[in-house]
Amino acid sequence: MERTIIVTGAGRGLGYSIARKHLDMGDRVYAIDYNLTDELRSLAEASEKLSIYQCDIGSTESVAEAVKDVLAAGRQLNIIYNVAGIYRFEDKTGLEHTDLDAGLHMFNVNALGALRICKAVWPLIQKGTLVVNISSEAGSIGGSRRKQEYCYCMSKAALNMGAKILSNELWDRSARVINFHPGWLRTPMGGPGAFASKHSVSPDESAENIVNIAVNIDEVPRDQMFMTHTGDILPW
Ligand SMILES: NC(=O)c1ccc[n+]([C@@H]2O[C@H](COP(=O)([O-])OP(=O)(O)OC[C@H]3O[C@@H](n4cnc5c(N)ncnc54)[C@H](OP(=O)(O)O)[C@@H]3O)[C@@H](O)[C@H]2O)c1
Repeated sequence: MERTIIVTGAGRGLGYSIARKHLDMGDRVYAIDYNLTDELRSLAEASEKLSIYQCDIGSTESVAEAVKDVLAAGRQLNIIYNVAGIYRFEDKTGLEHTDLDAGLHMFNVNALGALRICKAVWPLIQKGTLVVNISSEAGSIGGSRRKQEYCYCMSKAALNMGAKILSNELWDRSARVINFHPGWLRTPMGGPGAFASKHSVSPDESAENIVNIAVNIDEVPRDQMFMTHTGDILPW
């Protein structure tokens, strides 16, 4: 059965790997990103099942424009992957040197962006739809040992809360929500250390693990909502 998928942050990194994985599985993919990279454009040229849209998930107008085609197609969504996110290396510092105003933008993109996408395609979230949010272990309040990165951690904790409320609301539709920590990714966001470390993971490997859990979501109890890409449960 061909699935219908939305992926944000599909221009590069984890989002790109997730989009490509679903195309390999024969699915219909609507890919969204702030920048339509050459890589994503080439993928779209090679596959008629991929549609790509430039969009800022921090803007309600931009999201509404980007989802016009998927709404017009009117097909139930199988999986929505909210992958797009931002991070600032300058925030690896204590409160005294943290730019809290920049944190507002981060909150808007990382926490509200996922809900903005879901709200925009609300009629297409039906029985069996799965919303996958790419959160982070940084958003775990129970597991937090950090003394820095206030804004990023808070934005991901807020994303987690949004996911829980959305899950409660979607109960009646038999639709589900799950949040993942994707691992320490070998991407620019992961930083130079990720490329050198044996504890990091490639976006392709993380995507493979996340997609495998997502397409077999019936094997995951509904109350297990926050986990690593390898399926280890994280504390909220
Ligand atoms: N990297 C890690 O080690 C790590 C660890 C834990 C969690 N995560 C989370 O995993 C997700 C993917 O990370 P990644 O390493 O693959 O990141 P990445 O390589 O930086 O890719 C993120 C993608 O999101 C897009 N994006 C950013 N802001 C956007 C916006 N406002 N509207 C639309 N698209 C936007 C970016 O577009 P542009 O290129 O145009 O900016 C980029 O294509 C993120 O949510 C991140 O927080 C990452």
